[in-house]
Amino acid sequence: MKEMYAVIGDPIGHSMSPLIHNDAFHNLGIEGYYHAFRVSEDSLEQAIEGMKALQFKGFNVTVPHKVDVMKYLDSLDESATLAGAVNTVVNKNGKWVGYNTDGIGFYRSIENRLSKPLEEVKAVIIGAGGASRGIYATLAKRGIGEIDLVNRTIERAITLKEQCPFPISGKIMSLEEFESEQSRYDVVIQTTSIGMSPNVLEQPVSLKGKVDHQSIVADIIYNPLKTAFLKEAERLGAIAINGVGMFVHQAAESFYIWTNEHPDVERMTQIVYEKLKGAT
Ligand code: ATR
Repeated sequence: MKEMYAVIGDPIGHSMSPLIHNDAFHNLGIEGYYHAFRVSEDSLEQAIEGMKALQFKGFNVTVPHKVDVMKYLDSLDESATLAGAVNTVVNKNGKWVGYNTDGIGFYRSIENRLSKPLEEVKAVIIGAGGASRGIYATLAKRGIGEIDLVNRTIERAITLKEQCPFPISGKIMSLEEFESEQSRYDVVIQTTSIGMSPNVLEQPVSLKGKVDHQSIVADIIYNPLKTAFLKEAERLGAIAINGVGMFVHQAAESFYIWTNEHPDVERMTQIVYEKLKGAT
C-alpha cells in the first residue's frame, strides 16, 4: 500500500509540490502518493487529526498555516523553532514532528555559487517576515560573516535579530537607509512579496552601488522567474538567482526527512520550469 503525503494550504490550487514529489516517488521506486488539500483556517486542527487517523506519513504546510500548525504538533525540530514556523511535518511512530526546510532550502540554492567561504560573506536580507526569519537563522547558525537586515518596519527586524540565538554582526536599516548605504555585499536576499506577479514592475529597494560581478542577488519569488529586482541585479553585473532553487531544495529536504532518500533536484527543477513555462 502507498504511504500518503500531502500539502495543506489555502489557496493551494497552483501548488507544484504534488508534481515534484510524486515524480520523485516514481523515479526512486518509492511507494508514496502526495496530494494537495485546500484547508481553511477553521478546519486546520481537524485536518491534522484526520491525517493522523489515516496514518499519513508526512505533510507540507503552506500559507496561511505555517505558524498556526505548530500548536497541533507533538514536537518541533530546532529548524522549526528557529524559523518560528513549520513547513514540513513527519509522522514518527504516531507523533507529528514539525520541521522547517525553507532556510536550508535557500542555503542549498546558493551555496555552490559563493565565491568565498561563508565566514567571510557579507549579506543583506530585505524583509523581516516569516521567510526572512528562517533564512537569517540558517545563515547565522552556519557561521556567515555578517548579515544586515533591511525592513519597512524597523521594529520587526530588531525583534528578528534579537530572537535569533546565534549572535551575528550586522546592522538594521530602513528601506531608505539602505538606499543611501555605501556597503558592497557578497549576497543580497530579497524575501518580501514585492515584485510578485501581477506587480512585476515593483521592487523594494535599488541595488545601485552595492553589488558587483561577484555578488549573488537572490529573490525568493519565482513568479515571475525574473523580478524587477533581479533584472536590476543583472544590469549591474551580479549573479541573479530566482526562487525556483529555494522551492525545489526545500522540497528535496522535506522528501529526505520523510523517506531518508535524496531526490534528484535537477529533475525537480526541470519539472518546475516546464510547469511555470506552461503557466505564462
Ligand atoms: P512571509 O512569511 O512571506 O515572509 P510576511 O511575514 O507577511 O510574509 O512578511 C512580508 C515581508 O514583506 C515583511 O518584511 C514586510 O515588511 P513589514 O514588516 O514592514 O510589513 C514586507 N513587505 C510586504 N509588503 C511590503 C511593501 N509594500 N513595502 C515594503 N515592505 C513590504
